[in-house]
Amino acid sequence: MKYRSGQHALVLLMARPRAGMRIAFLPALSTLFLLCASVLFGLALVSILIVRLIDLDYVHNNARLRPISIASKAEMRDAASALPLDLGSSNTSIVLSTITWRSKNSELYYGCSNPSRHFHRADELQSNGYLMIVTSGGLNQQRTGITDAVVVARLLNATLVVPDLDHHSYWKDSSNFSDIFDVNWFIKILAPDVVVIKQLPLTISKAMTKRLVSMRVPRKCSPQYYKSKILPVLQKKQVLRLTKFDYRLSNKLDLDYQKLRCRVNYNALRFTEPISDMGHLLIGRIRQLSSQYIALHLRFEPDMLAFSGCYYGGGEKEINELGAIRKRWKTLHAKNSEKERRNGKCPLTPGEVGLMLKAFGFGNDSVLYVASGEVYGGDASLAPLKALFPNLLTKETLASKEELRPFLQYSSRMAAIDYIVCEQSDVFVANNNGNMARILAGHRRFSGHKRTIRPNIKKLGSVFLARSELSWDQFSAKVRACQKGFTGEPNEIKPGRGEFHENPAACICKKSAAKEKLEYFREQQINQIVNSNDEDLQNIEHDVDELENTDDQFGNYTAFTDAESLEDQIHIELPDGRDTGELPNQDGDMEDFLWFED
Ligand SMILES: *[C@@H]1O[C@H](CO)[C@@H](O)[C@H](O)[C@H]1NC(C)=O
Ligand SMILES: *[C@@H]1O[C@H](CO)[C@@H](O)[C@H](O)[C@H]1NC(C)=O
Ligand SMILES: *[C@@H]1O[C@H](CO)[C@@H](O)[C@H](O)[C@H]1NC(C)=O
Ligand SMILES: *[C@@H]1O[C@H](CO)[C@@H](O)[C@H](O)[C@H]1NC(C)=O
Ligand SMILES: *[C@@H]1O[C@H](CO)[C@@H](O)[C@H](O)[C@H]1NC(C)=O
Repeated sequence: MKYRSGQHALVLLMARPRAGMRIAFLPALSTLFLLCASVLFGLALVSILIVRLIDLDYVHNNARLRPISIASKAEMRDAASALPLDLGSSNTSIVLSTITWRSKNSELYYGCSNPSRHFHRADELQSNGYLMIVTSGGLNQQRTGITDAVVVARLLNATLVVPDLDHHSYWKDSSNFSDIFDVNWFIKILAPDVVVIKQLPLTISKAMTKRLVSMRVPRKCSPQYYKSKILPVLQKKQVLRLTKFDYRLSNKLDLDYQKLRCRVNYNALRFTEPISDMGHLLIGRIRQLSSQYIALHLRFEPDMLAFSGCYYGGGEKEINELGAIRKRWKTLHAKNSEKERRNGKCPLTPGEVGLMLKAFGFGNDSVLYVASGEVYGGDASLAPLKALFPNLLTKETLASKEELRPFLQYSSRMAAIDYIVCEQSDVFVANNNGNMARILAGHRRFSGHKRTIRPNIKKLGSVFLARSELSWDQFSAKVRACQKGFTGEPNEIKPGRGEFHENPAACICKKSAAKEKLEYFREQQINQIVNSNDEDLQNIEHDVDELENTDDQFGNYTAFTDAESLEDQIHIELPDGRDTGELPNQDGDMEDFLWFED
């Protein structure tokens, strides 16, 4: 089974309630909060008592599915409350730099993606035609494409047809949009921004049977490009299809378009119920074992390793096997593995991730969920990680074959389940800087800077190579030094740096003193407001909007533009579906890997 990425939409943070509604909710909320807190406390007590009794009864009697060394369950209970330890180091400068489960000051930030008052509603725009989209790549690459497609439709005042997913990428998943995403929700949530329809109207599609115009735009290109090159074609033809669509809109956009990106990515793109239920089932089972968990996205599939050109310690067998896969990309040259590693071009091995986590001070009682497809080398590759973190869980250890059966044949659905478990984790760590790691990093920043550790592979490479010459204290201190600025702290990325999908700064607001004051005011006034007339309510709503808009100045989202020099090609599709003009893609799926890499 091969797959690689996934996604999830956090609904609560993104919903766009009217301010008045929010106010009305507040008194109820604070009571509810107290109530929940006491209920949770009670539940925690009960669960501590019964954890002894639950013996993972959902783990089925299949010997291969034995999950974790249950011997350590008592320790796992402790993991719930314990912060990472300093591993007994006598060097205080080391102790100081271990990290905690939550990033500092994260409570001061929140995701903010509402449009400004100047952003027209979709029904005020005159449609210039229909935009069709064919996405490209694995699930998260496609997710970026869908996000940008909505914004492009909006830029062009086009009606968007629900995008087609890529069935031909390396990941070979035949799922359609509505198998992965809740399509009705997608249409409904975006209705104020863009008109989205499931299919072209019949009259139009009949007229189109002759000739459908397809275009491919360069990666990360500017709104001006769309307006000067794409809009005239759309207006002339009324229906236009953009192919190979992924990250096709620049990092740098006006604030309202960036916010729209966030509304799409973090709200409109909600997984279908079966996927979401499965994800939450897994989370529930993990949290039965420990209230806190680390999720690791391990990209260690054979294709990925072959593409990297690095050596991972598997001897002749590995060299032959990966070498054979590598032939798929005709343009790849032989590489010097050690040089690649030193230059940070190799994803971390499972064991290296374990060492990194240990260097940060995570105890061996921490619960680790491993999100991955096929792990090259299987259990043998995972063994060094498991030696450091025995409480290692996967989809397969947490759920029965029967439960997973509906998803197994669909790499994107499996990836989507992993996305949910990773997005909700207390700590997220990746061994790679691929699409899923990046999108999750952005999503988790949006959700309040949840702890996210991304390997600074460029620096770590040489530290791991020198490991045998270093004491543990020296080694771990170096690892932590390399990782400075890569642990998901709120201010670690300089304004304007990084790609939008991994750092959606335009959609992250900081609570200001004014806002805190307003919250206090709300609490004081709440009863009066609720009992007063609509006019008062509207005034308050207005004040809240004003404050929210001033907060928006927080991020500097102007980023670099590095549109590829990919020639834009206009080509016509023949009625039998053949394309003219599009060059055969000699590198096969290479784009799946190159895309998004720096
Ligand atoms: C403590 O760690 C720092 C940073 O790695 C290092 O420079 C220093 O020499 C260490 N001190 C001792 C006593 O090991
Ligand atoms: C889209 O519609 C708005 C409002 O009518 C208008 O200001 C804008 O110029 C239109 N843009 C395009 C590309 O047609
Ligand atoms: C996706 O849609 C196509 C065309 O409607 C259909 O033939 C195919 O079976 C669908 N895929 C799945 C997995 O249902
Ligand atoms: C975890 O580490 C402690 C020492 O820090 C050790 O005593 C214990 O045996 C370890 N547990 C496991 C399950 O490896
Ligand atoms: C963003 O950064 C640019 C370049 O550093 C600067 O000119 C601009 O004023 C900044 N904008 C905000 C809102 O901070």
